[in-house]
Amino acid sequence: MSIGTKNIIVEKAKTSKIGQIDFDNLAFGSVFTDHMLICDYKNGSWGIPKILPYQPITLEPSAKIFHYGQSIFEGMKAYKDNNNDIFLFRPLENHKRFNISAKRLCIPEIPEEYFMDGLRTLLQLDEAFIPKKEGSSLYVRPFMFASGKGFHASPADEYKFIIACAPSGSYFSGKVKVLIEETYSRSANGGVGYAKAGGNYAGQFYPTQLAVAKGYNQVIWTDDTNHEYIEEAGAMNIFVRIKDTLITGPTSDRILDGITRKSILDIAKDQGISTEVRKITVSEVVDAAKNGELMEMFGAGTAAVISPISAFGFRGTDYELPELKHSYGAKLKKIITDIQYNKSEDKFGWRYKVTT
Ligand code: PLP
Ligand code: COI
Repeated sequence: MSIGTKNIIVEKAKTSKIGQIDFDNLAFGSVFTDHMLICDYKNGSWGIPKILPYQPITLEPSAKIFHYGQSIFEGMKAYKDNNNDIFLFRPLENHKRFNISAKRLCIPEIPEEYFMDGLRTLLQLDEAFIPKKEGSSLYVRPFMFASGKGFHASPADEYKFIIACAPSGSYFSGKVKVLIEETYSRSANGGVGYAKAGGNYAGQFYPTQLAVAKGYNQVIWTDDTNHEYIEEAGAMNIFVRIKDTLITGPTSDRILDGITRKSILDIAKDQGISTEVRKITVSEVVDAAKNGELMEMFGAGTAAVISPISAFGFRGTDYELPELKHSYGAKLKKIITDIQYNKSEDKFGWRYKVTT
């Protein structure tokens, strides 16, 4: 079934919260725009999407989201340029991945029109909340979960699709110190690691808290079998530069197919940087750190963009990374954010103009 933006029901907020937003001191994802998009799935089909004032939602105590965690989300950003035009970055990739996650969690897929028309209408209505300051943007969070009731451990018969938005600053305040994790795992073969399932993140909190208590900011996840390979950095894909080669692991059913990751690989190749997509062993990273060949490590993701790693801990030893004047991370971050904020030519065709 196909709908258009004209079918979206819009109920505008009576008053705006815009005056309460301190655009010069934005945290990440903690203040929200005036509106949200909500759409219900019932009796086997999606209903008419509504844009409502941002507000709490009411759910049955037996709603299956609470018991069986049927819940997925996406993370996107909207940017505004000097002409007040609004842009998204590769939003169709987010839509595609949303439905890949939906399928794995037995949640009905959302048609592209609902996702894209919903985003466009909501962003135009709440455009005043899109920050222009460098490093800030509007974080956009589409999510879907089981609202249908019942304690039977089976997929729900009702779901909600919501898009909420938060004007946001940086995800990390500085460089990130990480701990290579050898006890806990984020995901396993045949599991849901490749999906943006809410439960994947809940499972990360405890090991991350243990790492934070030891003075680290994030955990580097390794494979669940032998903890031999480096896989992800918290909620980011990971890149390692050994000598002049930029390496990232291949995606698998344990690793999220990050949109930032694949964009960075394309940009790096275009810049003539030598890249490798292959399994990265913990031991080669430790050896490279010991013999001075480990030049850089960084995490990559929508929220975190490119976050440089200052040091990593492994089996009780901390390994510092050098401070580089001309890092690949800084260079690639500048190129990708210039595309996102419409400050440079977009030779890859990734920028998506919301305003027409
Ligand atoms: N890995 C995980 C586990 C994530 O949650 C994210 C964030 O979305 C990423 C990687 C990076 O993906 P993307 O670049 O599409 O935001
Ligand atoms: C994102 O980068 O958008 C994510 O979804 C990560 C999130 C846990 C903040």
